[in-house]
Amino acid sequence: MAEIVINGLTKRYPNGFEAVKDLTLDIGEGELLVLVGPSGCGKTTALRMIAGLEEISDGDLYIGGQRMNDVLEKDRDIAMVFQNYALYPHMTVAQNIAFSLKIARRPRAEIKRRVHETAQLLAIEEMLDRRPKQLSGGQRQRVAMGRAIIRQPQVFLMDEPLSNLDAKLRVQMRGEIDALQKRLAVTTVYVTHDQVEAMTMGDRVAVLRDGKLQQVDTPFQIYERPANLFVASFIGSPPMNLAEAAIKQTKDGLTVSLGEAEIAIPHELAARNSLDAWVGKSVIAGIRPEDIYEVTRKTAKLQAAMQVKIDRVEALGASLLGYFSVDAAAPRAESVSAIPAEEVLSEAPLTGTSGTSFCAIFEPRAMLKIGDTTEVALDLSRLHFFDPETDASLLAEDEPEKKKKPEAKKK
Ligand SMILES: Nc1ncnc2c1ncn2[C@@H]1O[C@H](COP(=O)(O)OP(=O)(O)OP(=O)(O)O)[C@@H](O)[C@H]1O
Ligand SMILES: [Mg+2]
Repeated sequence: MAEIVINGLTKRYPNGFEAVKDLTLDIGEGELLVLVGPSGCGKTTALRMIAGLEEISDGDLYIGGQRMNDVLEKDRDIAMVFQNYALYPHMTVAQNIAFSLKIARRPRAEIKRRVHETAQLLAIEEMLDRRPKQLSGGQRQRVAMGRAIIRQPQVFLMDEPLSNLDAKLRVQMRGEIDALQKRLAVTTVYVTHDQVEAMTMGDRVAVLRDGKLQQVDTPFQIYERPANLFVASFIGSPPMNLAEAAIKQTKDGLTVSLGEAEIAIPHELAARNSLDAWVGKSVIAGIRPEDIYEVTRKTAKLQAAMQVKIDRVEALGASLLGYFSVDAAAPRAESVSAIPAEEVLSEAPLTGTSGTSFCAIFEPRAMLKIGDTTEVALDLSRLHFFDPETDASLLAEDEPEKKKKPEAKKK
């Protein structure tokens, strides 16, 4: 077990491309930190630098207090699990799991004992004599985990270990890996581009974009207080609705005009976002799909209601997604995360002809159809505001618990 301290880590490839830029992160002893971001943002590069498979161009790496920059991969006491778990096809499961101990010339009796303990932990005892091709994808993944666990390393590094599995198995395995990591309490860095995986597994989540760290925090804080437009649009599915909005001063306080709606902002929310400074200016306002309600008797008390015309509906069983257009400009495309093709549920364009497409999660039995006009209300306490120039959240930090590191949004 060991703490990982990453200080200004940078990777410049020989062609001059900077894949990781000045990455600073502390990963606590026994913590599971998830590194998440879109394809090509530098996740694998960062992990390979920690593993010692890639030279560090700049910055320092410490594991368990020891500077590791110039320590060889084999001397870092790290086990890595890759996406293509590369089992040896001609070896049995037991031999695959035992491999590293054999190389390390451990006594036979010890190898046998540890293979059995590991197999037991992973519920693959009955498969020890099989070869990899006689296993299912999930079972192979467990063998790959077994090879890493048996070494009892001080650090686990996992690079999209579940991406070869089908959706259902992925959900099961992520639960298993999570439970296993908690039980072994080995410091772990887990890389994924899947934001759901990141949110469900991580003690903390670090969001990377173009080699730069955007935010690192607990899944809850990342969701509730995204530091900028990129994190706001990357984490959450369907993503947060975002549109340009004007802040105005009225005699009763501040309002935000979102399309045709003029919404009074609760005083406390205005204060937390220092909106006084934005009177007469445009901000980017955000609201998550689950914070928009159809106005019924239950919700009628919320004041910020607007009339919308439903462009598209998607019945998902447990909920119903309704799309409608808000007459306001969308944020610049480069500020937000493009939704990966596999996650696009709808053809609804981000920017419609008459404004920006918003999504709301309605009750599953809301009888909405395309073309219906309905009244929706926003949960005002859950509005987000961002600076349209810098993309940073306007939310002031919680002073008491926030620690040392200045966050990206201060810049
Ligand atoms: N040897 C190399 N030389 C130059 N550029 C490279 C090299 N290896 C990777 N890159 C670039 O560095 C960037 C980061 O690559 P990396 O593999 O770390 O991304 P990733 O976040 O793991 O992406 P994915 O989710 O697709 O696995 C990419 O733009 C990639 O093209
Ligand atoms: Mg990768």
